[in-house]
Formats: sequence, structure tokens, C-alpha cells
Amino acid sequence: MSETGRDIFRWSAVASFFACYATMMLGGEVLASGSGLGCASWPSCNGSFTPPFVGAAAIEWSHRLGAFTLSVFVTVLFVSALLFERRRPTMIRLASLAFSSVLLEALLGGVVVESRLAVWLVVLHFAVATALLGFLGLIVLLGNLPHFPKRWVEWATRASTDLPAGPPRPAPADPLPGRPTPGDSPWSQPTGPGSSG
Ligand code: HEM
Repeated sequence: MSETGRDIFRWSAVASFFACYATMMLGGEVLASGSGLGCASWPSCNGSFTPPFVGAAAIEWSHRLGAFTLSVFVTVLFVSALLFERRRPTMIRLASLAFSSVLLEALLGGVVVESRLAVWLVVLHFAVATALLGFLGLIVLLGNLPHFPKRWVEWATRASTDLPAGPPRPAPADPLPGRPTPGDSPWSQPTGPGSSG
């Protein structure tokens, strides 16, 4: 197996992740600025692939250029998974999911425009985008895990491990002698594993 091929796979995953994030932010800008019909045709922008870069068309066209860049990165990711990740079938499965999602998302973007921004399609468009970002994040994490610095792996192990069960902590001094203490409340009785009674 080629180390260069594997490097292409894992770096295209990182590039895809950030391209997806940036495209989502541009999509948010399209939505928030009401520029969804700045390019009222698809795949061209009002009949041109080099539209005047002004106003709503510039915002919507930037989102489509981001989507195009993302699609190129995810295609490289998918092809490099097929070629160089045969011994890690999970990578191939995740890359296939990412590739199908990006194709679906690009088509869905076109349908959103053709539908004149039907709300349920806009919501579906957002749902597919977040799923895609999730798949890409997982690929970045798993694909690069063997290359992570040891201290990152140790930190992740610590973060996901229970603290050791220690001796019970002494009760704090009673600040208001004579009043019921928190320990007297039925709501503050110790519960859960390890508590007696
Ligand atoms: C392929 C990657 C793409 C991703 C990750 C993506 C992501 C997003 C996101 C996160 C939003 C804002 C939230 C929402 O949808 O409700 C959005 C909005 C939008 N996207 Fe995309 N998008 C992609 C491709 C496309 C394409 C190819 C088109 C058009 C051909 C498109 C057209 C739109 C439109 C028109 C909106 C605004 C909807 C509105 O104003 O109601 N998207 N996109």
C-alpha cells in the first residue's frame, strides 16, 4: 500500500472537512441575506457560468463555487479511498457515504432553486449538509488517528474514562447551625452505584 496514496486520502479528508464548513457558512449567508434566488437557474447563474459578481448573485454564486470546490475534494477522497484504503474498509464505507451525500446535496441545491426555495427542501438541504460534515469529521478523526501526537490520544483516553471512585468527601461545615442542613433533605440523599441503602 502506498504511503503517498494514504497521505492523499487523509489530507483530502481534512480539505473536504474545511471546504464543507466554509460552504455551509456561505449557505448560511445566502439564507440570511435572502439571496437564494440571486442565481435563479441551475447549474448556471441566470444563464451564465461567469455571472457579474455583484449583489445577491455574488453571494449565491460564491456558495456554488464553494460547493464545487467541496465536490472536487470529496471526489479525490472517494477515489483515493478506493485505491489506497482497501485494508481499512470502514474508510471506504465512510468515503462512499460522503461522496453520495455531496452528490445528493449538489442536486438538492439545484432542486431548492428550481422549487423557488420550498421550505421543506431548504431544511432537507441543511440536514444533508450537517450529515456530510459529520461523515467528513469522522473520516478526519479515524483516518488520521495513527498520526495524532501521543498527547492528543492520551488526552482523548483520559477524557473518555471515568474518574477513579474516591473516598466519600467530608461534609462541609454547617454555615447556619440549628437550620436543616442539605444532608437532611430527602432530595440530597446519595443515590446511584456505590451508595448504601
Ligand atoms: C454541495 C454542498 C453544499 C452544501 C454543504 C450546502 C450547504 C448549505 C447550507 C448549510 C445552507 C444554509 C442553510 C439551509 O439550507 O437552510 C445552504 C443554503 C442554500 N443552498 Fe446550499 N449547499 C451546497 C450546495 C448547493 C448548491 C450546489 C446549490 C445550488 C445549485 C445550493 C443552493 C442553496 C440555496 C439556494 C440556499 C439558500 C436557501 C434559502 O435562501 O432559502 N447549495 N446550503
